[in-house]
Amino acid sequence: METLRLKVDTANLASEASQSAIARAAEILRGGGTVAFPTETVYGLGANALDVEAVKKIFVAKDRPSWDPLIVHIGEGGMLKHVAAQVTGEAARLVERLTAAFWPGPLTMLLPRSAEIPELVTAGLERVGVRMPAHPVTRALLAAAGVPVAAPSANRFGRTSPTTAEHVAEDLDGRIDAILDAGETTHGVESTVVDVRAEGCVIYRPGVITQEQLAAACGARVWALEGKEEPESAKAAPAPGMGIRHYAPRAKLVLVEGEGRAQMESLAQALRACEAAGDAVGVMLPDEFRSAVAGGQVQVYRWGRLQDAEELAQRLYAGLRELDAAGVTAIVCPMPRAEGIGVAVRDRLLRAANRG
Ligand code: TXA
Ligand code: MG
Repeated sequence: METLRLKVDTANLASEASQSAIARAAEILRGGGTVAFPTETVYGLGANALDVEAVKKIFVAKDRPSWDPLIVHIGEGGMLKHVAAQVTGEAARLVERLTAAFWPGPLTMLLPRSAEIPELVTAGLERVGVRMPAHPVTRALLAAAGVPVAAPSANRFGRTSPTTAEHVAEDLDGRIDAILDAGETTHGVESTVVDVRAEGCVIYRPGVITQEQLAAACGARVWALEGKEEPESAKAAPAPGMGIRHYAPRAKLVLVEGEGRAQMESLAQALRACEAAGDAVGVMLPDEFRSAVAGGQVQVYRWGRLQDAEELAQRLYAGLRELDAAGVTAIVCPMPRAEGIGVAVRDRLLRAANRG
């Protein structure tokens, strides 16, 4: 099939060109087609979440296994009743607080599935991931479509998530109906996925919203899934996709831990070791470590400042894709500190290196 490219100017959403691109994309969604669209995190590949035939097309286009559930995106609070069943008691209070604090925004909540949502969307699970995106283009698209939109990241299964329309086209051109192109996404890593229970929240996937922010907003305990002490009710439910290579470049990924000068020396050593092993080497190079690369054949991606985890997150996937495209066989990458959004960056890098 031919993939339609629809351009939107985020700064000029009211323009005729932007409006007609959004209207066309919404029409495709309502008609049971597939549209890749920007969000504040990464690009998603959307289809009408209430239409099982449309949802199937997402799995086919991505080569996504049917055990991996999709996140459902809603444009306004009134849509939630079509996606999730009623929550009561303490859990309802937590949902209320989280909604007030983070919606619209990069938080996905796992809630009991409504009967209207096909089982395929949740991979047969009783809970459905729901999020209300903040990106103005996503909001305009969801309002125009008037249906909840199931959307995983718009990449082939297992690959890095796309942060530009070009990334989407690399993976999915000819396999989906349209790409709504609004340039680079804002945060660059995915939403935080959180299971909301009466006892507190369990983070299934670290993301833009941090554990500290969640705890402050909900006033209850927040566990990381990998933690030893999650509540009993969450124990039987490992997050789908744990333990497999995900968010991955084609090249082998070599991660370098540490801090300051010691980390820079380890980085230089890893580069030498890869070169000695005959690899074509690329490096995700933070500004602070520039002197670690002294000539040689190393492909450099200027990543940003190690001190600025937001910037590292925003440029992470673009860097991995750029180095892949340059044909390297090994990518050496320093690990940022496990603070703020750095936790999500570390999580994606560990999974990309198959150590998640
Ligand atoms: O930022 C984001 O979340 C992006 C944008 C497009 O919204 N979406 C995204 O979707 O990253 P995806 O499919 O690439 O990742 C969704 C992950 C699943 O792989 C799974 O780990 C978790 O979210 N998830 C979704 N629904 C779930 C459920 N019902 N139970 C447990 N985990 C779920
Ligand atoms: Mg994904």
